[in-house]
Amino acid sequence: MTAEPGTRVLAADDKAIAAAARCLAAGGLVAFPTETVYGLGADAGNGEAIARLYAAKGRPAFNPLIAHVASVDAARAAGIFTDAAEKLAAAFWPGPLTLVLAKQPGCQIADLALAGLDTVAVRLPAHPVAHALLADFGGPIVAPSANRSGHVSPTSAAHVLADLRGRIDLIVDAGPCKVGVESTIVSCAGEPALLRPGGLARDAIERVLGGPLTITSTDEEAPPAPGMLASHYAPKALLRLDADGAQPGEALLAFGQTPDFSGPILNLSPRGDLIEAATNLFSHLRALDASGAKRIAVMKVPHDGLGEAINDRLKRAAAPRQG
Ligand code: TXA
Ligand code: MG
Repeated sequence: MTAEPGTRVLAADDKAIAAAARCLAAGGLVAFPTETVYGLGADAGNGEAIARLYAAKGRPAFNPLIAHVASVDAARAAGIFTDAAEKLAAAFWPGPLTLVLAKQPGCQIADLALAGLDTVAVRLPAHPVAHALLADFGGPIVAPSANRSGHVSPTSAAHVLADLRGRIDLIVDAGPCKVGVESTIVSCAGEPALLRPGGLARDAIERVLGGPLTITSTDEEAPPAPGMLASHYAPKALLRLDADGAQPGEALLAFGQTPDFSGPILNLSPRGDLIEAATNLFSHLRALDASGAKRIAVMKVPHDGLGEAINDRLKRAAAPRQG
């Protein structure tokens, strides 16, 4: 095994921003400041970089990520703007507001970053360094808060380093974050709903919308009520987990050596690589679901590293559901 690579910390200037943009383009992981908290960024179109991002955070589950964009037009390329979304973007962007929108058909964001959902969370941050990085990189950057899973969000480069040293490539240091709490998340995929309170106050949002927000939650650890969480990918087909192979009528999602099977079959990673498997997870499930098979047999995926998150999502996708 090679030694863990170091994490560079660069003071935010034009050269640091150019280096960060190059690093992202090469599939690297870059922590950068926003006005709310530091984010851990990856190229939104690069599934493998996103798989490594989840591994770096040590997340036991794939939570969908926020796509950060440089302009409202870039947000429109990812998500479908309703009237409410138009009003909120005009009033509060750039700023500490994330909008959850129905995904555009041509959306270029990797399935893994959206955890397989048909919605996308987008945000136009106000921090000048975040803005410069997005402009220089030239595309959306997905970024969760730059902390280890289960820790609080970082508001300084030192916090990021304490959590992620040796696990990410670069930290762009622009001092402490002004807002200090995460962005407020509002879903405009249906009736406007507050998914997470944050740096933008609810009454300011309700004034612009001219009415109250429905309140739900995206918090995986403490959902407000069972069944309110709509944030899991669920295929139409049933899932049969820990399969050795597939039966006639099934589709097969393989891992490692591919067994003989004449029906629809895709392999998460023929060489048994969990990063590669995570990258392919949602797109392969979707493709097998689209084959029309009533059931998808899924071969065993080991539980170490990203395997824990992969198995978490497979279990949720296999769970019985209503309707
Ligand atoms: O201020 C912030 O929002 C920071 C900075 C870096 O932008 N980011 C941040 O990301 O807090 P994160 O990953 O720590 O929290 C994002 C939340 C998660 O709870 C996730 O489940 C939710 O957003 N989310 C993302 N996409 C979603 C979607 N399509 N539908 C519902 N919730 C979504
Ligand atoms: Mg977070």
